[in-house]
Amino acid sequence: MMSELIKSPIANPGNPYAHLIEPVSALVRDGGQLILARDDRSLPSLQIEKKSEDNYVTEVDYAVQHLILDRLAQLTPDFAVIAEESEARAFDGQRPTWILDPVDGTTNLMRDLRLSAVSLALHADGQMQLGMIYNPYANEFFLAVAGGGSFMNGQPIRVSSRTRLRDGLIGFGTTPYDRQDAHRTFVLLESVFKRVLEIRRTGSAAIDLAYVACGRLDGFFEMMLQPWDYAAGMLLIREAGGAITNWCGDHPSLSAGDSILASNGSLHEPLQDLIRAASSGRGT
Ligand code: IPD
Ligand code: CA
Ligand code: CA
Repeated sequence: MMSELIKSPIANPGNPYAHLIEPVSALVRDGGQLILARDDRSLPSLQIEKKSEDNYVTEVDYAVQHLILDRLAQLTPDFAVIAEESEARAFDGQRPTWILDPVDGTTNLMRDLRLSAVSLALHADGQMQLGMIYNPYANEFFLAVAGGGSFMNGQPIRVSSRTRLRDGLIGFGTTPYDRQDAHRTFVLLESVFKRVLEIRRTGSAAIDLAYVACGRLDGFFEMMLQPWDYAAGMLLIREAGGAITNWCGDHPSLSAGDSILASNGSLHEPLQDLIRAASSGRGT
């Protein structure tokens, strides 16, 4: 696998962080193996802690984060880190910064739905430089390199070429840990559902964004996500020719949570129009 990565066109993208692709890909894959270890029958019951209402963290989330942060500290001791299950979550953009969600899709992991991923991005010099999303169940490793393209298991990927909203398969997230404003999501969902081919909810925003990047989904929206949910997906989608903004059409924030609209580019405006209409009460 790694030799495929080395032979692929990303080998020499001229990206100043390209030398990190191989060692960091290997450690993201190792993190994925820890997710698969949840299948091990010797783990009779997963240790789970409640973070807040409907929001849990498992021993696997901690184990994956620990493994990846430990090795990143050896590899890039001067880089900052933002990781979901740690205190250090402030982004200032001054130093190269790793942005990690050790397990995106924790509820899926708790119920063995087999749709969870490790998501890791590197932000440096004012832009996202590397993005990696690994779904170990499907053995799908998504990689994006600024200026070098997006890949799945070493093969270049592109967003879909669909131009009619009516043909769109659109993913969405429910913003499950903050249900105060849930009606906004569901008003919009109804309006989108009536105009597209179908809608999907995977339970992992990182996987949804990777699916937009490789053309399986034509778009995705969620009212509130955190930078570790979308940092890697942002670069994957942009390098695959798609678009990703917040619901106002601006660059998603890296210093705080934000709404997310991702698409193949052609469907961005029609989806944005539906968001605007739903927000102004003109939905469905
Ligand atoms: C969650 C997943 C889910 C999305 C939530 C995220 P977690 O991340 O991405 O699909 O709807 O908003 O918080 O908690 O499983 O890492
Ligand atoms: Ca997440
Ligand atoms: Ca997580």
